Amino acid sequence: MCGIVGYIGHREAFPIVIKGLQRLEYRGYDSAGVAIYDGSKINLSKTKGKVEDLKNKAKEISQAGTLGIGHTRWATHGVPNDVNSHPHYSNSGDLVIIHNGIIENYESIKKALINRGYSFKSDTDTEVLVNLIEEVQKTEGVKLGKAVQIALNQVVGAYAIAVFDKKKPDEIVVAKLGSPLAIGVGENEFFIASDASPFIEFTNNAVYLEDEEMAIIRLGKEIKLRKIKNDAIAYPNILELQMNLEEIEKGGYDHFMLKEIYEQPRAIMDTYRGRLLADQGIIRMAGIDENIEKFTNANRIIIVACGTSWHAGLVAEYIFEDLARIPVEVEYASEFRYRNPIITDKDVLIAISQSGETADTLAAIKLAKEKGAFVFGVCNVVGSSIARESNAGAYTHAGPEIGVASTKAFTTQITVLTLIALKLAKEKGEFSSSKFHEYLTELETIPSKVEKSLQSNALVETVAEVYKDSANCLYLGRGYNFPVALEGALKLKEISYIHAEGYPAAEMKHGPIALIDEQMPVIVIATKKGHYEKVVSNIQEIKSRKGKIIAIVTEGDVQVKELADHVIEIPETLESLTPLLTTIPLQLLSYHIAVMRNCNVDQPRNLAKSVTVE
Ligand code: G6P
Repeated sequence: MCGIVGYIGHREAFPIVIKGLQRLEYRGYDSAGVAIYDGSKINLSKTKGKVEDLKNKAKEISQAGTLGIGHTRWATHGVPNDVNSHPHYSNSGDLVIIHNGIIENYESIKKALINRGYSFKSDTDTEVLVNLIEEVQKTEGVKLGKAVQIALNQVVGAYAIAVFDKKKPDEIVVAKLGSPLAIGVGENEFFIASDASPFIEFTNNAVYLEDEEMAIIRLGKEIKLRKIKNDAIAYPNILELQMNLEEIEKGGYDHFMLKEIYEQPRAIMDTYRGRLLADQGIIRMAGIDENIEKFTNANRIIIVACGTSWHAGLVAEYIFEDLARIPVEVEYASEFRYRNPIITDKDVLIAISQSGETADTLAAIKLAKEKGAFVFGVCNVVGSSIARESNAGAYTHAGPEIGVASTKAFTTQITVLTLIALKLAKEKGEFSSSKFHEYLTELETIPSKVEKSLQSNALVETVAEVYKDSANCLYLGRGYNFPVALEGALKLKEISYIHAEGYPAAEMKHGPIALIDEQMPVIVIATKKGHYEKVVSNIQEIKSRKGKIIAIVTEGDVQVKELADHVIEIPETLESLTPLLTTIPLQLLSYHIAVMRNCNVDQPRNLAKSVTVE
């Protein structure tokens, strides 16, 4: 987490850094800071709060200068306050640093530096790092780049850093291990950022640093890349970015989350475009085609992920086992990596991650690779760490997702995983050609059915009005829609701070039923094909305990309508595809409740979009 931005060139740095920080605020937003250098004086301003607060506070400093760095923070070491905010100075005041990540051995380094006379203003690991760099500069008599390299070889942890030296007004040094760092390359100007969104209107050319690489960025010179460990020269691979400005702005919607919910028909279509060729009766996915035996001969598929991506993994478990008849285990990446799991070279591990940067998921795939498993990444962010670390993969083409609560990433992940399962089902002979064809043509109708599901928005808003002040909320679903119930509950708690739990409908009687009274809204997914009669019985059980029932049903349903307090319809589809539709009203419900409760929808408290710490 944390977002970092830097600029060096011929333009004023301040507005570029501030705008860039606003685009990266999804990465962390408890404090922010900026340092601008005009060639003689460094002007630094930082504050607890949002980038908007920083903008106001920074009116106190001179904003002139063509070199600048900025930071938006999600606190790890030290509470969010003005002092702990980045950038941090070294003791001499010559070096200034921003950092995304954690220096794990900072305490021992700090002690050693204190013994050598250093003092510290903040509680952060970052201030320790900048002083370590300064100490190396002094004791070794080396320039900034070399000092950064020597210092980084002494630290344990994760970092994306940018640091400059007052004595070198035309240079910024950056380095990466574990946290992302992109360099935008313009005409005699360079941009630094955690992702490309801060510089997309200035240049389409970007270099993504690999782990354990550093770069010396000097005006008028080519970028100099080095391996941190052994000083070997690395050669920058300049990528041409496809992202456009429109994709990262709100485009008339009040919130990114709502925009992203409404983008789902397009996002799902983009995800299967060029892959799903229904008229030819094929699914084309290079990452699967080239490794088909790995999948068909696999003992099992292990899916690792966190948060919403983990829920997409649970849906995938149903799809893979049901359609392709391959055993699947779904694991929280954070548990998997620390529990000495049994992994063999006959296993395929699928890592699902919107950002492609989640630290636990990344560590899980490294572990699986070490043990010989074949690793397949399903990521949204192109060129992200998980995408690069995987043996093969398939991108979701959701486009940038900025709202912290994940929406279109979830449905596009399910789309990719469905394509894979269908392809494997066909390959393994589990599906006849006609059944395969039926699935392909139905999948092609999903964007228009999502569109139709979105038409429930006004109705969902009226339901939100009724339940916006609830203290608790229960979500129930069965089969394919059990993970959707989990995801619905997660969305509500994330952005509206209402306690919500998702449960398999039949498990209700083993505990949650005790909570049901006339105050308790229960959202039940009761689509026609998903164990319908059994879910109807569960609804009866809720009703007889006076719970309030909000049912998600298939168009034309009559039975549930008679029992439920509110009914929201979705179009009919194949059972395995229903999660792509049932999830839509649940996203809208949490959105409207959060708006009505005056919550910060796009940046809920304590959360961050990209969790690059474990
Ligand atoms: C954070 C985000 C969630 C996301 C999870 C996993 O908690 O707030 O929205 O689902 O990380 O992120 P990933 O990028 O790996 O999908």
